[in-house]
Amino acid sequence: MSKGTATQTDALSVTDGRTGKTYDLPITDGAVRAMDLRQIKETPDEFGTLSYDPAFLNTAACRSAITFIDGDKGILRYRGYPIEQLAERATFLETAWLLRHGELPSPKQYDQWVHDITFHTYVHENIKNFLQGFRYDAHPMSMLCSTVAALSSFYPNAKNIFDPEERNLSFVRLIAKVPTLAAFIYRHGKGMPFVYPDNDLSYVENFLSMVARMSEPRYESRPVFTRATEVLFILHADHEQNCSTTAVRTVGSSHADPFSAVAAGIAALYGPLHGGANEAVLRMIEQIGHPKNVKAFIEEVKAGTGQKLMGFGHRVYKSYDPRARIVKRLADDVFKEVGMDKDLEVALELECIALSDDYFTSRKLYPNVDFYTGLIYRSMKFPTDFFTVLFAIARTAGWLAQWEEMLQDKEQKIARPRQIYVGHGERPYKSTLSPK
Ligand code: SDX
Repeated sequence: MSKGTATQTDALSVTDGRTGKTYDLPITDGAVRAMDLRQIKETPDEFGTLSYDPAFLNTAACRSAITFIDGDKGILRYRGYPIEQLAERATFLETAWLLRHGELPSPKQYDQWVHDITFHTYVHENIKNFLQGFRYDAHPMSMLCSTVAALSSFYPNAKNIFDPEERNLSFVRLIAKVPTLAAFIYRHGKGMPFVYPDNDLSYVENFLSMVARMSEPRYESRPVFTRATEVLFILHADHEQNCSTTAVRTVGSSHADPFSAVAAGIAALYGPLHGGANEAVLRMIEQIGHPKNVKAFIEEVKAGTGQKLMGFGHRVYKSYDPRARIVKRLADDVFKEVGMDKDLEVALELECIALSDDYFTSRKLYPNVDFYTGLIYRSMKFPTDFFTVLFAIARTAGWLAQWEEMLQDKEQKIARPRQIYVGHGERPYKSTLSPK
């Protein structure tokens, strides 16, 4: 339809070639409602037209006010605040408050929030026995996923998801206890005694104390590591409708309790295409071994052997992930203090070659948040298989904010997609087993 031949309306005018009928589908906020397709039928008694979008490449599942991403411009904002400014000047708990409430906390609100979190860091002693049931080499993400799900059984009232007080308690309990579980899981893997929370420390210092304290009466984390952890937690706190947040929203839409919904998010984050990428990046860099091997590795990736350049690419960012830029600067600060990491040279060489290679730039494959993060965590002596647990600690704040927004969204109901059936038509049962 050439411009000007019809009145301009905020609607798609579609004509069904099978019937010649024309339909006007309203466009709101750049989207058409999939349900508006249902009216398009060849015959009156049929179901109607579906939208087909495997992996939801072009489907908005919700309206959200929490996080804004512009993938082409490399913009990321939490409740309108640029990630660069929050990473530079905010704390993680301040960011967790902002994600949920939509505004920065007043000093009074912040003090109460920090107090509440600080005094909910302990877990039931039975959780320790639960963790002892795992082998010493159990993957930390597998342990975290099951332990958070198990926590649901200790707080049966968390099921009262429409009780604001219960919801608030669940926010506090999960944001407070996931670091404790993470630290206990770390200590279990090392065969070391669990270290209990120290209420006189900040959120990040307390986490690092539960991970690393030995016989000293009070653990003092290195300021550069405390700072790096705070910034990395802020950067990883939320990222709109990513795979794990979609899992949390989907499980939450059945009105399951938030502990079970967050456990589902942890399970999704575990995958190497998602949060597991930070672990996969380190394994890839260790496999390459030396900057001189980078060229051959890149050729292997380009040859389509299935080997991906882990830490590169993103469903939304088609330019440099703004978080990766911040993490790269943070890595420089950390390595200035603790000494150059030999694998950082491999990572820098990988980035340098990939960003000048048409195979990657034509596919808009740039470093994402996971590319440099693992190098920092490794410099802090975290084991590679623990990196995604650190991602999960931070993302718990975003998952919960998204979960609550879903619950309060009048348009939402239980998530139940349709399908295009491509299987057998009706056929009679005839056993293929030998007659008894
Ligand atoms: C996170 O969604 C989020 O917001 C996630 C996250 C968050 O904060 O929650 O940002 C965190 O998960 C970051 C992403 C971490 N994952 C990785 O680093 C794993 C490696 N990256 C890829 O697997 C991939 O880029 C994805 C999964 C991140 C995105 O995949 P898409 O959007 O489905 O893109 P695609 O697989 O369709 O790729 C398009 C093309 C393909 O090539 P062709 O078929 O066109 O020839 O690019 C290729 C892919 O093969 N490609 C890669 C690649 N990523 C995509 N080739 C080599 N190396 C890669 N990393």
